Amino acid sequence: MRLEIKDLYASIDGKAIINGANLAMNEGEVHVIMGPNGSGKTTLAKAVFGYPGVKVTRGDVLVDGKSILGLTTDKRAALGLFLGFQHPVEIEGVGFVNFLRASKEAVSQSQANMKELMKDIKSWSDELKMDESIIGRALNKGLSGGEKKKAEILQMVLQRPKIAMLDEPDSGLDIDAVKVVAENINKAAEQTGMGVLVITHYNRILSHMHPQRVHIMADGRMVADGGKELIDKLEKEGYESFNRR
Ligand SMILES: Nc1ncnc2c1ncn2[C@@H]1O[C@H](COP(=O)(O)OP(=O)(O)OP(=O)(O)O)[C@@H](O)[C@H]1O
Ligand SMILES: [Mg+2]
Repeated sequence: MRLEIKDLYASIDGKAIINGANLAMNEGEVHVIMGPNGSGKTTLAKAVFGYPGVKVTRGDVLVDGKSILGLTTDKRAALGLFLGFQHPVEIEGVGFVNFLRASKEAVSQSQANMKELMKDIKSWSDELKMDESIIGRALNKGLSGGEKKKAEILQMVLQRPKIAMLDEPDSGLDIDAVKVVAENINKAAEQTGMGVLVITHYNRILSHMHPQRVHIMADGRMVADGGKELIDKLEKEGYESFNRR
C-alpha cells in the first residue's frame, strides 16, 4: 500500500489548520512526524482518517493512487489504515475483548475465530506487559494513560493494518514502557510488513525504532523532510531553526 497526502488543506469549524501538507509513504516503511504543539499533527492524522469535523478544503489523500476522501472512516480502515489516538477514549459498557473482535471483524469483513483471537490477545498482551485484568474490563475504562496506549497497540497488532498512524504512542509512558511499546511496534511491523507513521515529540521512542524518513511540521505544513539527522538537528536547535526557511 502507498499512502500519499498531496497539498492538503483542512479546517475545523472554518478555521484553517492544515495548510498544504505533503507526505508519501509505503507499506514496510517507518516515518516520523515531529512538530510543535498546535502545528496540526493530530488534525492531519484525523483528516487522513476522515474524522468528523475535520473538513478537507483542498488537495487529496490517495491510497495506491486513488483518492480516499469520499470514503467513510470504516471504509478507510477496511483498506488497511489504522489510527492510534493521542487521547484514547473510555467507552463504558463495551468490553475490551468484544471491541477487539468487532474491530477486527469490521476490518477483515469476516468472522473472527475466537480461539485464535484469544490466543493472540494473550500472547501480545504478555509481550506488551499488560495486566491480565485489563482484558476483562470495559474499553479503556479506568486505565492509566500508559495502559491505554498499550491497549491501542494491542488493537493495532490484532487488526493487522497496512499502514498505521500512531499519534504520540509514547505520551505518558514511563521509560520501560516506551521501550516495550516501541519493540512491539517493531515486532508487529516485521511480522506483517506494515508501515508505521509515528507522531511524537520525543527522541526516546525513536532510539528504539529505525525511521527512514522524518517530516517536520509547522503551521499545518511540512517545513522539512529528511533522514534521522533532522532529529539530531531538532534536538540541538529546536523548532526555531526550521521556521526560518
Ligand atoms: N476541535 C477543534 N476546534 C478548534 N480548534 C481546534 C480543534 N482541534 C484542533 N484545533 C486547533 O488546531 C490546531 C492544531 O491542533 P492539533 O491537535 O492538530 O495540533 P498537534 O500538532 O497535534 O499538537 P500537539 O503536539 O499539542 O498534540 C491547534 O491550534 C488547535 O487549537
Ligand atoms: Mg496532537
